Amino acid sequence: MQDTIVIALGGSLLSSDESDKIDLWKIDFVNLIGSVLDSGMKIFIVVGGGKLARINISKAKKEGVDDEFKLDLIGIDATRENAREIIELFQNVQNLNKNVPQSIEEVSKSFENYDLTIMGGTVPGHTTDTVAIKLAKEIKSKLVVIATNVSHVYTGDPRKDRNATPIEKLSLKELGELSGVGKSIQPGSSFAVDPIGVSLAMDNNLPLVILNGHDVENLRKAIYGEPFKGTIVYGDD
Ligand code: UTP
Repeated sequence: MQDTIVIALGGSLLSSDESDKIDLWKIDFVNLIGSVLDSGMKIFIVVGGGKLARINISKAKKEGVDDEFKLDLIGIDATRENAREIIELFQNVQNLNKNVPQSIEEVSKSFENYDLTIMGGTVPGHTTDTVAIKLAKEIKSKLVVIATNVSHVYTGDPRKDRNATPIEKLSLKELGELSGVGKSIQPGSSFAVDPIGVSLAMDNNLPLVILNGHDVENLRKAIYGEPFKGTIVYGDD
């Protein structure tokens, strides 16, 4: 079967106070994905909600919505809007799925037809990291790259703990302990990966890579198995 890669693209990568930087990042990202497709891989990108999700969720809360399920649906809408924005960048790709799939089942029914599929969230109760991991399990992808706005998984929260250090390599089990598997995560929470997704990766022995998605050259290295800056989460052999 063709090699596949799943990228969880953190929504935080899509906005910045410096919009020029984002525009340049988009050009590099599109070029990278184009060259990976040319090398014969299939790519699945699961886009996060980022700033749009946070704004819309906090607006709804101010208007009195306090039902988590409804707030999650607002978050999912934001992820899908961001996914549509990313799809627009790839109109030149021949086998592009131009629609945003709404579920993992939808992707698994049609993924043979496309080289590039871009989606957002699916159902309430988790984040797009978990969607990426579920998808990787379903389509039997060997690798999930979590492209976020931090360079590594840290031993603690680097924003609060000055002694927190970046981790270059750890097992899925160790990541589970660190991320607090079993607890749910809030939007914008500081841990690099959603613990629900980590738990699923543990159950399926699915290796993960966590890196800063702003650095497209670094992302390229990770995709091609070259040494890169980030965290490798390995499974059992
Ligand atoms: P994200 O995946 O963007 O979560 O989904 P996040 O923690 O804010 O991640 P970053 O900052 O983009 O990396 C945004 C929100 O949408 C809802 C959740 O409320 C989530 O916090 N969501 C998303 C779901 O309920 N289900 C999904 O499948 C995806």
